[in-house]
Amino acid sequence: MLKGKHIVLGICGGIAAYKSVTLLRLLTKAGAEVQVVMTPAGKEFITPVTLSSLSQRPVVSEFFTANTGEWHSHVDLGLWADLMVIAPATASTMAKMAHGVADNMLVTTYLSAREPVMIAPAMDLDMYRHPTTQRNLRQLAADGVMIVEAETGALASGLQGKGRMAEPEEIFAIIERYFARCESLAGKKAVVTAGPTYEKLDPVRFIGNFSSGKMGFAIAGELADRGAEVTLVAGPVSLTVDHPRIRRVDVESAEEMCDATTQAFAGSDIAVFSAAVADYRPAERKDQKIKREGVATQTIELVRNPDIAARCGDMKRRGQVTVGFALETDDGHDAAHKKLHNKNLDFVVLNSLKDKGAGFRTDTNRVTIVSEDGEQAFPLKSKREVAADIVDAIEKAMK
Ligand code: PMT
Repeated sequence: MLKGKHIVLGICGGIAAYKSVTLLRLLTKAGAEVQVVMTPAGKEFITPVTLSSLSQRPVVSEFFTANTGEWHSHVDLGLWADLMVIAPATASTMAKMAHGVADNMLVTTYLSAREPVMIAPAMDLDMYRHPTTQRNLRQLAADGVMIVEAETGALASGLQGKGRMAEPEEIFAIIERYFARCESLAGKKAVVTAGPTYEKLDPVRFIGNFSSGKMGFAIAGELADRGAEVTLVAGPVSLTVDHPRIRRVDVESAEEMCDATTQAFAGSDIAVFSAAVADYRPAERKDQKIKREGVATQTIELVRNPDIAARCGDMKRRGQVTVGFALETDDGHDAAHKKLHNKNLDFVVLNSLKDKGAGFRTDTNRVTIVSEDGEQAFPLKSKREVAADIVDAIEKAMK
């Protein structure tokens, strides 16, 4: 699984740096090519000579080699790598990553990384549980960084608690699982709807909703990271996407979203309907701005929009897996079951606006997966982690 994979191994200044030697050894033995990048403090804990001997590559730590002036390109490293792993990740490096403080080679490499990034934090228990560290961890998770949780046990300070870096064997197993997952959807095609739709009333006004597209973009990213070719049909959102396997189609109204989605659905193996589609649109779209002078009240006649998920449900053929969402303001279980049947879905992802941190605009969500087989409730997680849970359920449904 790891043969020929390019891995940037970032090492920061913490006592757990000695464990990185074992991790490096495991990675190279498995056939990975590893480029070590150290922070200046990292070199205080373990020598570059050990690491360069094991990786058979010079360790990179400075922006350039002082005596020759040779420039070390963080951009090239970002393009070269299939995965960046930072182990140990110290509080200081995590803070710099979360805030874009690019004052060393490791953080600049992180900021240039196009590949996924995994971190294994390690620090003393008080530093680990400090609200600042926890805030930075949440921010990094929301940015899509995979986090290998610190373990509880004896710490270098002599204290006992949470903050020990996970054992190298465990990090290695997670890396192996990551690469196995990367190819789990290779050759599959997916279509994902995301964001709101805008239904025009006149040239300056519309009926819309608060969807930011974050949930749908996270799902598209997760599917693409696992090897699927994804068509992302996006309503008007301010998010950007930069993934070679994601083709983005921008639309504005429900009718436009319906056309683009049904077209892509015909050739897809997977469809995820995470967009907040306006159920109605104005019966008439005025060519000129509606004037308010002399008009005390306005009545707008609305007509039903096509139900995109239900349309795809009618077109669905054997082997296609379709997933809908249910956005409710109460517990919503009955509504989710109705949607499951009415839209011919494999499962419904229920999220409720009554849950803090769930639903529109947030970087987190709390969902329950509702299917014929029962319900699975998940705790509040970053939208990227929620996307991984949803894609795990899709893969299960495909078997
Ligand atoms: O975008 P974010 O800010 O990250 O917020 C995420 C989200 C809250 C928008 C997302 O998690 C979510 O719940 N999306 C579905 C919202 C919604 O419209 O739910 P619904 O219960 O009204 O619709 C049920 C399902 O039918 C959904 O899969 C919806 O995409 C689909 N639908 C609805 C109407 C319609 N005309 N066509 C559809 O395809």
